[in-house]
Amino acid sequence: MKRDKNFTRSRADAARADFSGLKVAIVGGTGGIGRAFSRLLASRGASVVVVGQSFRDSDVPGIEFIKADLSLMREAQRVAHLLPAEGLDLVIFTTGIMAGPTREVTAENIERDMAVSYLSRLAIVREIGPRLGKRQAAGQMKPRVFIMGFPGNGQAGNLDDLNSEKSYGRWAAHMNTVAGNEALVLDGAKRYPNANFFGLNPGFIKSNIRSNLFGGKTLLYRFIEWMTGLVASSAEDYAERLAPLLVSPDLEAHSGVMFDRKGQAILPSPELTDGNYVAAFIAASEALV
Ligand SMILES: NC(=O)c1ccc[n+]([C@@H]2O[C@H](COP(=O)([O-])OP(=O)(O)OC[C@H]3O[C@@H](n4cnc5c(N)ncnc54)[C@H](OP(=O)(O)O)[C@@H]3O)[C@@H](O)[C@H]2O)c1
Repeated sequence: MKRDKNFTRSRADAARADFSGLKVAIVGGTGGIGRAFSRLLASRGASVVVVGQSFRDSDVPGIEFIKADLSLMREAQRVAHLLPAEGLDLVIFTTGIMAGPTREVTAENIERDMAVSYLSRLAIVREIGPRLGKRQAAGQMKPRVFIMGFPGNGQAGNLDDLNSEKSYGRWAAHMNTVAGNEALVLDGAKRYPNANFFGLNPGFIKSNIRSNLFGGKTLLYRFIEWMTGLVASSAEDYAERLAPLLVSPDLEAHSGVMFDRKGQAILPSPELTDGNYVAAFIAASEALV
């Protein structure tokens, strides 16, 4: 992952970041990193709507819930219609799983990781993208869309087999979603001048994301999570560190930029600096949706 030397931002102060009155949607805000963001932003005065399968914060003021199984594109489209996109200041995508040892497909015949971790986001962005910013007053911050994944790691995906039909490997399947999310940031920045798009790479965070990697919570999974726990940050620490970036005025003219676990700007993967490749990747993804 290479730092973006052309991008500077002032050192933001977490305590000064003001979220009061902000309207925020967090797709994947019911667990892990998304949940840490939703609880933090709500505690600082934002109105937050979270999308996920299991709501765990019904006792927290300022958080509303939309229940959805985002492995299904028709569910993603239904959720997108429910979101109050015209008035949203921030949209954060943190939905995710990791592909398991054998290929799983959804009722819509899409490889499950691809569906949950990437295509559901694409489906939502396509519906809300043109609506973002429509009800914002002049002088307000342009709506911002943050897409979390693993950008900047040189993953191009396999354009000829995004649905892992020709061959299946859990790592290759997951890397299709990594490339897709990075492409979605770059494409969104170009396609929607009414909003700003950014990528987030959180590094290693203690969460539930790896629970499917070995087909369940096996002994190997427990060992790897124990090892991960020695080096990984908590979701709460990461959210606290990144929160000021979400509203930093310095981002305004930098749509398409991606950030590492410390909130420092990183360069996109070299494979995705080819605009034609990004366009082809997005077109193949839309065909799947
Ligand atoms: N943790 C890491 O080390 C790490 C590293 C690199 C990148 N990331 C990225 O960070 C993002 C967040 O990951 P995380 O670590 O916070 O994972 P997590 O703790 O497993 O949380 C994932 C979120 O996705 C939701 N979700 C999963 N399947 C869903 C479905 N079928 N329908 C609707 N919602 C669903 C979960 O909701 P429910 O609990 O309600 O099902 C939860 O809110 C992902 O994009 C991941 O790829 C994480």
